[in-house]
Amino acid sequence: MVVLTGAGISAESGVPTFRGAGGLWREHRALDLATPEAFARDPDLVWNFYAWRRELIAGCTPNAAHLSLADLATRSNLTLITQNVDGLHQAAGSTNVLELHGSLWRLRCTACRQTWADRNVPLLLPPTCPDCGSLARPDVVWFGEQLPRATLNAAKESARAAAVFACIGTSGLVEPAAGLARIAHEFGAQVVEINVERTPLSAFADRVYEGPATAMVSRWISEVVAGNLDLLDPE
Ligand code: OAD
Ligand code: ZN
Repeated sequence: MVVLTGAGISAESGVPTFRGAGGLWREHRALDLATPEAFARDPDLVWNFYAWRRELIAGCTPNAAHLSLADLATRSNLTLITQNVDGLHQAAGSTNVLELHGSLWRLRCTACRQTWADRNVPLLLPPTCPDCGSLARPDVVWFGEQLPRATLNAAKESARAAAVFACIGTSGLVEPAAGLARIAHEFGAQVVEINVERTPLSAFADRVYEGPATAMVSRWISEVVAGNLDLLDPE
């Protein structure tokens, strides 16, 4: 069983999504804030945006959807892939999360490229590398950048092997993450979508749960997952 999550799963925790009503990319231009060029041009502007998001998310807690997935992993063979950088899956107890777009809670040195965990809120700006003193950046994937190769490969492999592939709260517009659902579909998985609205993924989903993640994830688990008991307790 494989689950791919997007910003919508954290919406009910109070984390803004990117697209749609109240979405971050409605008020802010992604190209001014989430590209390597933007960071080279104005690191303070970019850091202010990320420091603001860290502060906002530091005040948010995992919701019932995050918690249900953490619980599901304890009784099934579940691979959890997320596009989210908010860390709420881990806060809910999920481990081995494949973070396709990195994490707000990790920094990376722009010179020596080492990464380290940093949960300081507020963050002293601009943050620097503890070893070489160079400017640090958020360890997230920006537009125009490659996804972490090993993480993406693991995600693709799990999509090919999936019996059930559930997409939760993602607009399905950003590649290569959106392509994972298509891979799963082509390789014969039952594709499930949970979203408050229809998306390009709805076209080939075998099952669409239209509604908020906090209600629909537990409904999906009781209806579909419980009906596929061979997916539970693999050991
Ligand atoms: P989007 O903001 O594009 O889409 C959020 C999706 O969640 C939409 O389809 C909403 O309909 C849905 N949604 C909103 N509230 C929901 C709820 N309560 N329950 C269920 N669904 C809900 O977010 P992503 O698809 O995650 O990348 O965006 C993908 C990537 O684009 C992000 O990782 C980010 C962004 O630019 C980078 O920054 C690199
Ligand atoms: Zn360094």
